Amino acid sequence: MRTRALFFFFAAGVILFSPGVAQTQRPDINYDESKVPQYVLPDALTMANGERVSTAKRWRDKRRGEILQLFEEHVYGTTPGKKIPVKSEVIAADKAALGGTAIRKEVTLYFTSDKNGPRMDLLMYLPATAKGRVPVFLGLGFSGNQGVRADPGIRLSTQWMRNGGPGVVDNRATEASRGASASSWAVEKILERGYGLVTAYYGDLDPDFDDGFQNGIHPLFYHPGQTRPDPGEWGSIGAWAWGLSRALDYLEKDDSVDAKRVAVFGHSRLGKTSLWAGAQDERFAIVISNDSGCGGAALSRRRFGETVKVINDAFPHWFCANFRKYSDAEDKLPVDQHMLLALIAPRPVYVASAEEDRWADPKGEFLSLVHADQVYRLLGKEGLGVTDMPPVNTPAGKTTGYHIRTGGHAVTDYDWAQYLNFADRHFRRAN
Ligand code: GCU
Repeated sequence: MRTRALFFFFAAGVILFSPGVAQTQRPDINYDESKVPQYVLPDALTMANGERVSTAKRWRDKRRGEILQLFEEHVYGTTPGKKIPVKSEVIAADKAALGGTAIRKEVTLYFTSDKNGPRMDLLMYLPATAKGRVPVFLGLGFSGNQGVRADPGIRLSTQWMRNGGPGVVDNRATEASRGASASSWAVEKILERGYGLVTAYYGDLDPDFDDGFQNGIHPLFYHPGQTRPDPGEWGSIGAWAWGLSRALDYLEKDDSVDAKRVAVFGHSRLGKTSLWAGAQDERFAIVISNDSGCGGAALSRRRFGETVKVINDAFPHWFCANFRKYSDAEDKLPVDQHMLLALIAPRPVYVASAEEDRWADPKGEFLSLVHADQVYRLLGKEGLGVTDMPPVNTPAGKTTGYHIRTGGHAVTDYDWAQYLNFADRHFRRAN
């Protein structure tokens, strides 16, 4: 019995933590388009009381808030309104980083008066030639800031980290983890195009395992006697998104950055996070979701690839506890993910998929944008402007953008090339 239990534990681990092969072999996952069930999406422009929203003002005054609240209560949980004092400290600065092409800065944001308490380390690369404030891409990463570039000047993360990544030993980063995620961050290209890049490690905000919310930032917000978030309060995605807003607070004070031109970016679970950050915090000028899938850009009701049940079972800490009510009951959700994209309107949002990343349901990611279009149009923007999925490697869109590229679940130079073009277009620079 014990051996059997251990076997199942191990098998479940293989399935959960090796995206790709194991996931595509799961018998409970649908990858057949003809088996996508019939579904009716909640209408972004119909209020809970049945009223049809037909003006931008009505959207702004009533419906937007209503949808935001539904996502808080049923999907990601509410983010505490309490403001905590955050202190920033520039830890290191190098004006001649990356062979003289970049200014590298590291800034720590302390969330309590204890310097050993919860904090967030920002890594900033800015173009050395920049005159004045530069627009930046801001994103959380999986492997610590030292994973972004094999640059010996970057401080090594000391936080808990998932084993299995390059250079991670006993849940800590080692020197060998430098540059571990370099292929996901097109640093040179970003700098060459006149943008800065700001990154932070997502585990600074909440280490990515289910510990009942004892570590990370959640406890800073507990009321006396509270030991974990209530069923409608934030999970890890909420905490990660909160961190992105605190990074933006800092960028507003940094005179090398144009905080009105910050594109928030994220891949996969961090793509779910960038969307939720962009939906809640309207200071983010552009929002980018790379392969965000279930609980991100993909429509939950399609039940293609990863489903609400599968994600809740595997990662119970990502969403609020209420979200579990919708495992195998997607049709009961009062929202679907097109409404998350609609919350970003009229600001530009870019959704990217990868052809082999069927776990994330590329078509469901595309359709979310299509269904968000009516809100963009109501707000006087063109939205996506297409209803048929474009061929691979053929970006489409206007105020919102989409591409599906060849290849699998990753962030590639191709993806970054599109994000840079999109940012150029919307930040009104030469393309
Ligand atoms: C798993 C998970 C996805 C998630 C991905 C990631 O595959 O099921 O929902 O997007 O991990 O974050 O890499």
